[in-house]
Amino acid sequence: MDRIRIVGGQRLNGTIPISGAKNAALPLIIAALLSEETLILDNVPRLADVIQLQRILGNQGVDIMIAGKRPGDDPNSGRTLHISAKRIVDTTAPYELVSKMRASFWVIAPLLGRMGEAKVSLPGGCAIGTRPVDLLIMALEALGAEIEIEAGYVLARAKNGLRGGEIKFPKVTVGGTHTALMAAALARGTTVIENAAREPEIGDVADCLNKMGAKITGAGTSRIVIEGVTRLHGARHTVLPDRIETGTYALAAAMTGGDVLLANARPELLQAALDVLVQAGVTVTSTNEGIRIARNGSGLSPVEVTTAPFPGFPTDLQAQLMALMTRAKGTSHITETIFENRFMHVQELARLGARIQLSGETATIEGVARLKGAPVMATDLRASVSLVIAALAAEGETMVNRVYHLDRGFERLEEKLSQCGAAIERLST
Ligand code: EPZ
Repeated sequence: MDRIRIVGGQRLNGTIPISGAKNAALPLIIAALLSEETLILDNVPRLADVIQLQRILGNQGVDIMIAGKRPGDDPNSGRTLHISAKRIVDTTAPYELVSKMRASFWVIAPLLGRMGEAKVSLPGGCAIGTRPVDLLIMALEALGAEIEIEAGYVLARAKNGLRGGEIKFPKVTVGGTHTALMAAALARGTTVIENAAREPEIGDVADCLNKMGAKITGAGTSRIVIEGVTRLHGARHTVLPDRIETGTYALAAAMTGGDVLLANARPELLQAALDVLVQAGVTVTSTNEGIRIARNGSGLSPVEVTTAPFPGFPTDLQAQLMALMTRAKGTSHITETIFENRFMHVQELARLGARIQLSGETATIEGVARLKGAPVMATDLRASVSLVIAALAAEGETMVNRVYHLDRGFERLEEKLSQCGAAIERLST
């Protein structure tokens, strides 16, 4: 199993190219199931989660061709996928695959919309919280699907096709909104989604669906209206930059000090996180090429942050911010409101010398003068990368175990950081 070895203390200086967003690429690939024609996606990140999803779609008879690089192509731009769901041969998504990646549950919506049936495994447990799918099922039922749950599988049927309807989410759900959008695209009549998630990845998927011939308005606001169409055609779409990868490297640069350009990053995708960095005393500048993050010698100020759906501070940056605050001059408070169990990094950060107290959903972080390297491991993607951030500023060597979590969501992490001067390497055993 691969491990990552980091020797802390180096400042980061240089340019880090930001990849396409994992959390947009996954639903975009799933959206290809809605059409018989080919969907071409550019800037798809090279990630374990994308490969896992390709396996699931392969099971259903989808052909995915990964275009090779051409001379002159930017080495940092992601892959181009040609996805063709001309003939769907299987409307099942089995437990063995869905349990490894929750977002694959979302295939239920296009399968139901196009084929009138789907049998998709319930995703099962998760390291960051219980994460039920009741609201996704509610949304499908609102569009006329008949749902049964049997032996761990959701059996969904719409014999005569789905019909438009009103979906009112009692809480903001990204997966629920993606599911509702995809199901409504091919439903008969108009669907209105109230209290829709406003995450930029929802807007990206809606843009792509519109290029495929869907009629969606209001994506990016909390009220989305979809006029169903009878079929969708092929299209070409570029995946938007990853705001969580951007925020992660911004926090890493803030942690080590130095001056880093996050190339291709878009500030409007993570304004709340950039505001927090400014409060902490970090210099944030938007340029034509991306976002520049700089901190020279000055100490970090503590912050008070509560995670919230977009445009609030993202839960997917909570662990990384906590790593940064372990070195602040004073006491910070971070409250997690999206997932009930997303504090698995706390004990691991403590192994590096962090002082963090947990009380319910709030962590109190007392900044310390120094962290010290140690062997650590984490149980999810964002928690793992928070340990990398802490290790970059810790004295001596940190060995991060269970690197497969990082590979799910960060493309060439050790390469991107070492190009900016970090002492980081992957050890394969
Ligand atoms: C998406 O997960 C992201 N995943 C997550 O990123 C992200 O943390 C999350 O949105 C919140 O921003 C992808 O986009 C692939 P939700 P999702 O439905 O859609 C509850 C990462 O690290 N809920 O918005 O599963 C749920 O338990 C990942 O990249 C229900 O109660 O999240 C949570 O408390 C981790 N019933 C809240 O809603 C439901 O049916 C928000 O979850 C669905 C959700």
